[in-house]
Parts: sequence; structure tokens; C-alpha cells
Amino acid sequence: MSVDLSTSLGSLQLAAPTMTASGCAAAGRELAQFGDVASLGAVVTKSIMLNPRSGRATPRMAETPSGMLNSIGLQGPGLEAFLEKDLSWLVENDVTTIVSIAGGSVEEFREIAIRLRDVPGIAGLEVNISCPNVESRGQVFACDPNSASAVIEAVRAEWTSSAPILAKLSPDVTDIVTIARSVADAGADGVSMINTLLGMVIDVDNMRPLLGGRTGGLSGPAIRPVAVRAVYQVHAALPDLPILGMGGIRSGHDALEFIAAGASAVSIGTVVFGDPGAPWRVAAELAKELDARGYGSLREVVGAAHKG
Ligand SMILES: Cc1cc2nc3c(=O)[nH]c(=O)nc-3n(C[C@H](O)[C@H](O)[C@H](O)COP(=O)(O)O)c2cc1C
Repeated sequence: MSVDLSTSLGSLQLAAPTMTASGCAAAGRELAQFGDVASLGAVVTKSIMLNPRSGRATPRMAETPSGMLNSIGLQGPGLEAFLEKDLSWLVENDVTTIVSIAGGSVEEFREIAIRLRDVPGIAGLEVNISCPNVESRGQVFACDPNSASAVIEAVRAEWTSSAPILAKLSPDVTDIVTIARSVADAGADGVSMINTLLGMVIDVDNMRPLLGGRTGGLSGPAIRPVAVRAVYQVHAALPDLPILGMGGIRSGHDALEFIAAGASAVSIGTVVFGDPGAPWRVAAELAKELDARGYGSLREVVGAAHKG
């Protein structure tokens, strides 16, 4: 079997199509005991903000049918500590790294882009606009086309590197194509989709929301059909816009659905908590799934579900 799994996201050439999903494998180092991290398509790091952040109140996780709800709340060490401890490890180990960034304001995104643009070893920027805008009633940037494009315009204006900018979209919108179009017009080279869906679990013994932060993000297989639908819709409307697909991928078969819907690569998230080798396993399974259907390369299947 010799299936060519190489792919690309805009100008970024990838030897392998599976990546970690932001927030599900920290900065990749913990995965090193389970496989060669440099052989992954890329590590997408946990979203980093300008300053250290402690995240939301506990409990922060709840199991749900075929998924999980988390309210970590962008906990992290802040940009400088990330560069010193995490990015340096990734660079030393030749890992293709997509840095995920988050901010509470357009200015915070801009500042992060300025700080990162000359840092070597960044293969791509994933701009997590699925976080609340502190200056606009806590509204999530990715839920409004104007806020979403304001962030991407600011990052684009400062980003002098040739590494692509991917906008990470939220599925919690009426029309995800409108948002994808607005970020593409603002200068995103591609989109990552989907982030978690907003959910809630109630503890009926004490009659309170179970998570300390009350609401949380739903991930895992439960959201996969929503994610596949989102990828399909965006690829149908914007066929030239590269898509990094994610949402409940557990197997090569699942990954193939995303590729056929229009994704050029996939991120592996929640499944990694139970199976840390999943990003490598899914790539191997994907090769078998393609081979079994007579395909010689992944590229020929991108968007295949739209043909005919
Ligand atoms: C515990 C946890 C933390 C996450 N943290 C981030 C994050 O920091 N930034 C981000 O863009 N997405 C974050 N996500 C969303 C994932 O990257 C992914 O988009 C989503 O979980 C869907 O994929 P999955 O079902 O394979 O997990 C997080 C998800 C989980 C479960």
C-alpha cells in the first residue's frame, strides 16, 4: 500500500494530514512518549493569550453522551513563558508548529501577532476567535462577521511572516458561511472548524449547573455531524479556501468524512485524552481507508463529496 498522505493548507506543505487539536495536547511535549511528534502534520498548540491566565472555576469537565463538556477557559502561562518553554521544545524537536492565539480584544490579538511575527519556527497561526470579546458585552468574536473580520484584519496587518493565518470558527452561528467569507475577505489564508459547541449539564441533586463556569464547550463524536456539515457548507461556498477540519474524529474513517466534505487536513482533539496515540493511528487508518477505495492520494479526495 502506498497512499500519498501529503497535503497543504495554503502555503503550508504538510507531510501528514493529522494534527493535534488546540487545547487537547498542550504543546505536544506530553505526546512524545507515544510517538514521533515531528512526524505529525503539525502540533496545534493550546490557545495562548498575552498574559498568564488561571481559567474558570472547577469543576471544568463533564462527561456527556458520546462527548464531553469542558470549561477550561483558556488557562495558560502567557505568551513569554510559552515562547521560552513550549515553542523552544517544539523547534528543537523539528515539530511543525501551528501556534493558536486568543485575545479578549482586537488589540490583544494585534499585540500577539506583533510579538510572534519574527519568532522562528512558527509554521502557521491559528487565530481562535471563538473566545468572548471583553469589550463587546462578552460576545464571541466568531459569532459576528464584523468582530471576526476585525480580528483577522488586525492580525493580517501585522503578520509579516509567510506562514498562513487560519481563523478558527465556532459552529454556534446561524450561517457559518457568512463568517467564513468575512474572515477570508479580511485576509485569512484558511479556516479551522469547528470549535466546541456551547452546552450545559445540570446536576439535579443540587439543582445547579454542574460546571463551575456553568456553560462549557461540547466536543467529541457527538459533534461530528455538525462539524462535517460546517466543512461541507464552507467548501461548497468557498472551494478555494483551505480548511483544517475537526470535531469528534476518532478514526481514519471519520477523518475521511472530513476530507470528502472539503477539509485538506484534520485535527484530532478529545479522543487524545483516552488514546494519546490517536493522531498517528488516525493517519495510518486514513491511508488504509483511501487504499481500500482505490485512491492513491489524499489530495484527490479533498471535497470529493461535492462532485457529481
Ligand atoms: C479540553 C479542551 C480544551 C480546548 N482548548 C481549546 C483552545 O485552547 N483553543 C481552541 O481553539 N480550541 C480548543 N478546544 C477545541 C478543540 O481544539 C476542537 O476544536 C474541538 O474540541 C472539536 O474537536 P474534538 O471533538 O476532536 O475535540 C478545546 C477542546 C477541549 C476538549
